Amino acid sequence: MKRVILAGATDGIGKALAELHASKGYWVAILGRDPAKLDALLGGLSSRFPAATLRGVVCDFRDNSRLGPAFDEAVRAIGHCDQFVYVAGIMHATDGVTSVPEDDAEMFQVNTVAAVQLLGIAGNYFRLAGKGQLVGISSIAGDRGRKLNPAYCASKAGLTTYLEGLRNRLHPFGVQVVTVKPGFVLTKMIAGRSGVFWAASPEEAAATIDRRVDKGHEVFYVYRRWGILGLILRHIPRFVFKRVGPP
Ligand SMILES: NC(=O)c1ccc[n+]([C@@H]2O[C@H](COP(=O)([O-])OP(=O)(O)OC[C@H]3O[C@@H](n4cnc5c(N)ncnc54)[C@H](OP(=O)(O)O)[C@@H]3O)[C@@H](O)[C@H]2O)c1
Repeated sequence: MKRVILAGATDGIGKALAELHASKGYWVAILGRDPAKLDALLGGLSSRFPAATLRGVVCDFRDNSRLGPAFDEAVRAIGHCDQFVYVAGIMHATDGVTSVPEDDAEMFQVNTVAAVQLLGIAGNYFRLAGKGQLVGISSIAGDRGRKLNPAYCASKAGLTTYLEGLRNRLHPFGVQVVTVKPGFVLTKMIAGRSGVFWAASPEEAAATIDRRVDKGHEVFYVYRRWGILGLILRHIPRFVFKRVGPP
C-alpha cells in the first residue's frame, strides 16, 4: 500500500488529499503546525477509514530547525515514503499598494524556504531509494508578477523554478517531480475574496492532483483551462501588463 507524507494538510487542498489517500487505505503521515487541529483530523479520518494508517507530526514551517527532524519522524512513523507532497502555503491580504515586510518574509518562508528544504530532503531520500514522487503545490500566481501581492507571486515563482531544477536533477535517478499550479480553489486562503471564477472545490483539486500525478504528468494546472490563461498571461508584453494586467 502506498505511503505518503503530506506537508501542510490540516486544511484546504492538503486536507482533501489526506482524505482521498485515507479512503484508499494508504499509509499517510501529515505534517501540521497545530497539534489540536492535527489530532482532530487524524481522529476523524481514522474512524471513517479504519483500513488506513494515519500519523501526525507537529511541525511549524517557520522553524527551519524542525524541518529535517520532522521529515525523519514522518518516515519512521509510516515505515518508508513513496510520495512526498508539499502543500502548505500562506497568502497574506494586502491593500494593493503598501508592502508589509514581515508578511512578505513570512510568505517566502512558508511558500518557498521551507518548501525548498523539505522537497530537497525528500529528493535526497528518493534518489537513494531510486524511485519516488515529489509534488509541490505552486500556483498560477507564480507565472507573472502581479501588483496585488508581488511577494506571494514571487514565492510561487521561486517554488516553480526550484521544482523544475529538481526535476531535471532527479530525472536520471527515477524520481518524478511534479509542479501543480492551481487557479482558484475554494479554501480559507481565498475566503471572502471577490472576482473568483473557475473555482474548484478542495476535493476536486485533490482528485485532479492525485489522478494526474499517477498518470506521470509533470506540470499541470487545476483546472486545465487555467493553463490557457497562464499561457496568455506569460505572453502579454511587459508594458501592457504593467498598465492593464490583472490584480
Ligand atoms: N486556494 C487557492 O485558490 C490556491 C490557488 C493557487 C495555489 N494555492 C496553493 O495551494 C496550497 C494549499 O492552499 P489552500 O488553498 O489549501 O490553503 P489553506 O486552506 O489555507 O491551507 C494551507 C495549509 O498550509 C498550512 N500552513 C500554513 N502555514 C503553515 C506553517 N507555518 N506551518 C505548517 N503548516 C502551515 C495550513 O495549516 P493550518 O491548518 O494550521 O492553517 C494549512 O494546512 C498552498 O500552497 C497555496 O498557495 C491555493
